[in-house]
Amino acid sequence: MGYKRLIEHRLPLAEVSTESAREKSIRHGHISTLHIWWARRPLAASRAAVFAMLVPDTDENYELVKKIVPWEAVKDGNSDAILEARRRVLEANGGVPPKVLDPFGGGGAIPLEALRLGCEVYSMDLNPVAHIIQKATLEFPQKYGQPNSRPVPDYIREKDRQAAALATGKVSTKNRGKATRQVGFDFSGSEGLWEQAYKRNPLATDVRYWGEWVKARAELAEFYPDDVFGEDEQIMRGGAARIH
Ligand SMILES: C[S@@+](CC[C@H](N)C(=O)[O-])C[C@H]1O[C@@H](n2cnc3c(N)ncnc32)[C@H](O)[C@@H]1O
Repeated sequence: MGYKRLIEHRLPLAEVSTESAREKSIRHGHISTLHIWWARRPLAASRAAVFAMLVPDTDENYELVKKIVPWEAVKDGNSDAILEARRRVLEANGGVPPKVLDPFGGGGAIPLEALRLGCEVYSMDLNPVAHIIQKATLEFPQKYGQPNSRPVPDYIREKDRQAAALATGKVSTKNRGKATRQVGFDFSGSEGLWEQAYKRNPLATDVRYWGEWVKARAELAEFYPDDVFGEDEQIMRGGAARIH
């Protein structure tokens, strides 16, 4: 490691700050929507810090930080800028993925970003809630969310059978597109939409299936008052968080 790391010299702080602030309004696809964690660091700042700790101080690396911090660089998978950052991290570490340990991982922002940049990551936390958030964020999607990684269970096929039965005899060729959207069965193929979704991502489809089964909102609503104060203030007052 005979070189100065980028973070020891400089960071494009204006860009990192702007993108970190922008993240607060993201409501889809961000790990903060999985579970509230009070001390969670912004993903953009975590990504910039991890990258800048692992690569040398060069103009190219400084410029690349600006390209990897926007939400758009990660929201639909790894952008070219992220892939380039991964390549540079690996190169700076002699072709071996660097090991990153976050002993106070909290909501998992730093370990998530280190994983994204191709590191071998270890993370922990004293708090069991943080621990389960980290498992669900860092481990389960990789283990259980890969395409075609698990056999399609019968309860998923049953959803398709129910959808098909509901529509049997009622769907003309002309209306198949509309019926597919309404009933959730793909009338143009031999597989139902649930089965197709399960093959694409077993974890996400299971979450959707069991989420419908639990019906948390209907059954638990009486224990959760309306969010009249706004989420942050309600937490401060010791009230319950929203059920999503
Ligand atoms: C500032 S938060 C970390 C936030 C994290 N970087 C994130 O983005 O969510 C500090 C974390 O350290 C954990 N912690 C405190 N004492 C600890 C200990 N002795 N061992 C492990 N974790 C501990 C807390 O539970 C808390 O989640």
